[in-house]
Amino acid sequence: MWILIATQLLIVGVDASRFWCHKFEDGQCIAPGDAGLTLTTEDKAKMSAFVKAVLSSSWQRPQVVNSSTIRNKVLAGYQGWAGARGTWDHWTNDGQMAPSATDPDVNHWEHFEMIPQMGEYPLGALQATGFKYHGNGSVVNVYANAAEGVVDLHFQWMKDYGMDGVLLQRFISDVINPGKGLDHFNTILAQADAAAAKHGRTYAIMYDMSGAASTWDTDIDADFVSHVKNYTSSERYLKEKGRPVVCIFGLGLVDHAQATVDSSLRFIRSMQANGFYVIGSGPYYWREGTHDALPGYSGVFTAFDAIMPWSVGRYSSALDFSRLGPLVEADAALTQSRGQGLMRT
Ligand SMILES: *[C@@H]1O[C@H](CO)[C@@H](O)[C@H](O)[C@H]1NC(C)=O
Ligand SMILES: *[C@@H]1O[C@H](CO)[C@@H](O)[C@H](O)[C@H]1NC(C)=O
Ligand SMILES: *[C@@H]1O[C@H](CO)[C@@H](O)[C@H](O)[C@H]1NC(C)=O
Repeated sequence: MWILIATQLLIVGVDASRFWCHKFEDGQCIAPGDAGLTLTTEDKAKMSAFVKAVLSSSWQRPQVVNSSTIRNKVLAGYQGWAGARGTWDHWTNDGQMAPSATDPDVNHWEHFEMIPQMGEYPLGALQATGFKYHGNGSVVNVYANAAEGVVDLHFQWMKDYGMDGVLLQRFISDVINPGKGLDHFNTILAQADAAAAKHGRTYAIMYDMSGAASTWDTDIDADFVSHVKNYTSSERYLKEKGRPVVCIFGLGLVDHAQATVDSSLRFIRSMQANGFYVIGSGPYYWREGTHDALPGYSGVFTAFDAIMPWSVGRYSSALDFSRLGPLVEADAALTQSRGQGLMRT
């Protein structure tokens, strides 16, 4: 799960080497060999001041989140994929077998950084791994995301801890193939809709076209009409300016060139013509068309209703915040000057 604030902040990333916590020192997570994570005294002071400011601010969140606007929301990115398809999907790197502390085969290594706290999950959602808890030797269980009660628990936690809801991720490369995950992700969608209603949270769909074919746009159109669109009229579905929010990840991003400028523009405009508020996410350097951004996509970024630059893994220290601050300010100035929204990850 990653976290956004609708002027926003994102926590968990995909690159395990950056997030694996090897050592605690003064409560800090240090990854040896990663200079970016070796915090200076100044970094620590800045981070500590930031955490204190957040904790002391009056973080009053409503019992029932106002789903008619995305403004000033704290949203998590929700993949809902743990235990999908194969029993161990996303718990092990190949999804094929139970993680085991004694298994020497690197093809089946565990794919999570920390053992989650399992105490509140329904027993029926748990599956035993080969790991044992250090100290008492009892078996470590992990959960199956689509099992009854799991999504509900995650939404309850969001309410307990003042988060407004989720962008529910939907990889078109997964859902296009019924054998690969359509049923799983449709189950998660139905559960999220019910849990949002029960716990007063909100949600919107976030398509990801990573790994999709050149037919990515018509594939999303078809999936959207068949499986998603009816949820967008749900009272808990997130809206902005009266229009249901749909987010798309990957347009204009390097290694995602199957989304051409033409197909990207067609997709965005047809979604907008059908009454949706379209948020584009993907490249961090979207304005410049450099680094992680394909050149020539400025028209695509102009067409979005809002832009969410993808910063997962980009801020490893307070120094990175200082270094990249001017870029974030320029993003804000440009989007504001043309009446677009800007979300921070
Ligand atoms: C919810 O947000 C909308 C859009 O900003 C606003 O018009 C409306 O008054 C809000 N509703 C409540 C109950 O605050
Ligand atoms: C063993 O330790 C883990 C981690 O502290 C704990 O969650 C679990 O309940 C313990 N098991 C037993 C049987 O005490
Ligand atoms: C959308 O359609 C699915 C499948 O027909 C159904 O289970 C679900 O309740 C519908 N959701 C809404 C919000 O109408």
